[in-house]
Amino acid sequence: MLRWRGLFLFFLLTIREIFRPILYWYIFHIFARDLKKPLPEPFAKEKVDVTVYCGENNSEKARAEVLGMGDLPAAEIEKRLGRGDAVAIAYDESKAVGYMWLTFTSGMELAFDTRWMVRSDEGVKYDSFVPRKLRGRGIHSVVSTALDRYARERGLAMLFSSISVLNAQSMSLAKRLKVAKTMTVILVRVRGVKWTWRKATGAPLESRFSVGLVGHEAAASGGKGRAASVSGE
Ligand SMILES: CC(C)(COP(=O)(O)OP(=O)(O)OC[C@H]1O[C@@H](n2cnc3c(N)ncnc32)[C@H](O)[C@@H]1OP(=O)(O)O)[C@@H](O)C(=O)NCCC(=O)NCCS
Repeated sequence: MLRWRGLFLFFLLTIREIFRPILYWYIFHIFARDLKKPLPEPFAKEKVDVTVYCGENNSEKARAEVLGMGDLPAAEIEKRLGRGDAVAIAYDESKAVGYMWLTFTSGMELAFDTRWMVRSDEGVKYDSFVPRKLRGRGIHSVVSTALDRYARERGLAMLFSSISVLNAQSMSLAKRLKVAKTMTVILVRVRGVKWTWRKATGAPLESRFSVGLVGHEAAASGGKGRAASVSGE
């Protein structure tokens, strides 16, 4: 079963790479965690501490530690902290060994100008990372469940997240923590003309996503990309 899943994902990735010069696609499953229900426990193989940073609460420390793990440029970290996002950082002793982000605001891009809509009692967990040498120890589950608890303490009711169907390592978390899948979103972009086809199953795309460029991107395109139709641009 595992072997078949590996071959299938390999096949999908190969197809995607072959067609990359002409078109590119993503398929995301969208998951929802109801914070009013009992929350799952992490399944790390050994004790891992976690701290959630947000706003002025030690943001210098968070900035340095995320940067030190080497997967995110400083400007991107700055943008996220500036937006008011929270980041959960896992520690083995005092060494940072993984993180996951949580945003409370609309506008974050899923892909191809398709953007999350977030209501006042909701959040979106995104971009988890564990350094390669430390993977497979359940650290992902520690940062994810810490953000669930943090969000509940802040009074949020629901947390959402997206996982690419090609990301088996991330998908394993959704299965093990039994997160409910609410939608599947398919995005296909034809390169050159930048035409995008969007399709959702499980719920209408516009119930959770808007389409268009934001801020400086919209200005740079002369406003052409803003609020394009959900079915294509
Ligand atoms: C996704 C990610 C955060 C998972 O972190 P993690 O702490 O290794 O998660 P887990 O320990 O729960 O392991 C997840 C799966 O990966 C497998 N795995 C991946 N690398 C492994 C390794 N080097 N050793 C052992 N198992 C590994 C595990 O067996 C597990 O699968 P299973 O539950 O079916 O057995 C990590 O793989 C990562 O940083 N990937 C790159 C960035 C990314 O894809 N982020 C998510 C999308 S935003």
